[in-house]
Amino acid sequence: MPRTLITSAIPYINGIKHLGNLVGSQLPADLYARYRRARGDEVLFLCATDEHGTPAELAAAKAGEPVADYCARMWAVQKELADGFRLSFDHFGRSSSPQNHALTQHFAGALDANGYIEERSERQVYSNADGRFLPDRYVEGTCPNCGYDRARGDQCENCTKQLDPTDLIEPRSAISGSTDLEVRETKHLHLLQSKLRGELEAWIDGQEEWPVLTTSIAKKWLNDGEGLQDRGITRDLDWGIPVKRGEADWPGMEGKVFYVWFDAPIEYIACAGEWAEANGLAEADWRRWWRTDAGADDVRYVQFMGKDNVPFHTLSFPATLIGSGEPWKRVDYLKSFNYLNYDGGQFSTSQGRGVFMDQALSILPADYWRWWLLSHAPESSDSEFTWEDFQASVNSDLANVLGNFVSRITKFTRSKFGDGDAAALPEGGTPGDAEAALVERLTTGVAEYQRHMDAIEIRKAATALRGLWVAGNEYLQQTAPWTAFKTDPAAAAMHARTALNLIPLYATLSAPFIPDAAASMHAAMGTEPAWPDAIDLEALKPGHGFTVPDVLFAKIDDAQREEWQARFAGTR
Ligand code: 2FM
Ligand code: ZN
Repeated sequence: MPRTLITSAIPYINGIKHLGNLVGSQLPADLYARYRRARGDEVLFLCATDEHGTPAELAAAKAGEPVADYCARMWAVQKELADGFRLSFDHFGRSSSPQNHALTQHFAGALDANGYIEERSERQVYSNADGRFLPDRYVEGTCPNCGYDRARGDQCENCTKQLDPTDLIEPRSAISGSTDLEVRETKHLHLLQSKLRGELEAWIDGQEEWPVLTTSIAKKWLNDGEGLQDRGITRDLDWGIPVKRGEADWPGMEGKVFYVWFDAPIEYIACAGEWAEANGLAEADWRRWWRTDAGADDVRYVQFMGKDNVPFHTLSFPATLIGSGEPWKRVDYLKSFNYLNYDGGQFSTSQGRGVFMDQALSILPADYWRWWLLSHAPESSDSEFTWEDFQASVNSDLANVLGNFVSRITKFTRSKFGDGDAAALPEGGTPGDAEAALVERLTTGVAEYQRHMDAIEIRKAATALRGLWVAGNEYLQQTAPWTAFKTDPAAAAMHARTALNLIPLYATLSAPFIPDAAASMHAAMGTEPAWPDAIDLEALKPGHGFTVPDVLFAKIDDAQREEWQARFAGTR
């Protein structure tokens, strides 16, 4: 059985994600995971929350909670929303897990043993009142460039000038407001990525099938040199993974933690360990996905992420894996995305602009969003969410094309051939030219759909799927069983039977995009998902019972659209 390992970029813990985040990694990863499972692969689909770093500390402070409590609470919130969107993770882990602590410390030890780590001294702001070093953005003061009095140590928000904390006039701690600050020497670990340039370059050059967006970003960073500079992998923070060499203390590194971007990708591996533990499995059960000395050579590993994450996944994380000198599985295919914009501007977490996952589910079920987002995925360029386009797609693709087909044929059959609420596929007639033509069209269409799904060309796959739904509608239009019924009831019965056979087919094929509607369709038809090897529109026989499902998709009217447009126009 082919095995596919799928990871989505792990979302930051601080706050609920917007639809732009969702379509940039978790949702397309879910689409692919569902598809591979439907095709019979053994799939391990992992995601987690990215819990360390200053943004998490700041968000916790703002919420007035200890950071560990904040993260635990927000993990549960994100988990519930993931479930709401039907994201079918095999495990939704946490980068703060014991597994990630141990593995991150292990990697640091291995990298050090292989000569890829160097201790370097730096000068950094220390706050006597707070009793700690302050990361750049924890130092505030007056901008030497424009005089703005709340400039941060990394950048002035007012004039956008990049700053060093020591540039600020009258600097103070953003935590306590104290001005009792001094500059102290502090040591940090640096990962000597530049030593791995040759190996990374050879590996990236060997990736012939990666999408252009991915390779162009990887090569730009490799060749600019910028991405491959040695990088600091430790920070003076309380919250994070304590710096150790494996299980051993690291003299001189007391009180320091690893940088969030060092431990976050390692969580992809640790998460498999969390998954095994949560399911009562053994160590070997997760290692066979991740260690090439434990069988992972047979695994195809696919990653999903927004384009801003590509350098970390094509250079930094592989540098960690290669530098360890251990046989870890590396990514086979890296699918990256451009950005989704919102109604003439950008989605923004800090400004609360756009529609966030909780808000989306409060107005419509997941399938509506999944369909729009996936069929408009920002693959070859940025794309834009507008309420008009959302309304038009839902009404046309989901309500008129798919929903209407299902409702029309089930209701027609029940009313003409059924007995009260009881309905079954009617008997009579023999399939002819129209049915043969339909089978041919579906055969070509399904092959095309599979080709795009295999290549993770999501928009093209959505278009192909919609084409299959259209074929059913056109078949009904052409054969018009409601008219034929008056003159040739046997022919009408055969047309109805053929059309009803399309419902389980549509359910199976559509499930990666719209899993809830697919489940309703199977439930109505009393069928189970089974990927079609060949199109058989006589699989369900006369007498097979079915029920008329509830409306699969309600149309969005103009008043609703306007109300939502107004409600989500401002900031959260
Ligand atoms: O951009 C982000 O949302 C990061 N939290 C992604 C991290 S992905 C990986 F490194 F784990
Ligand atoms: Zn300024």
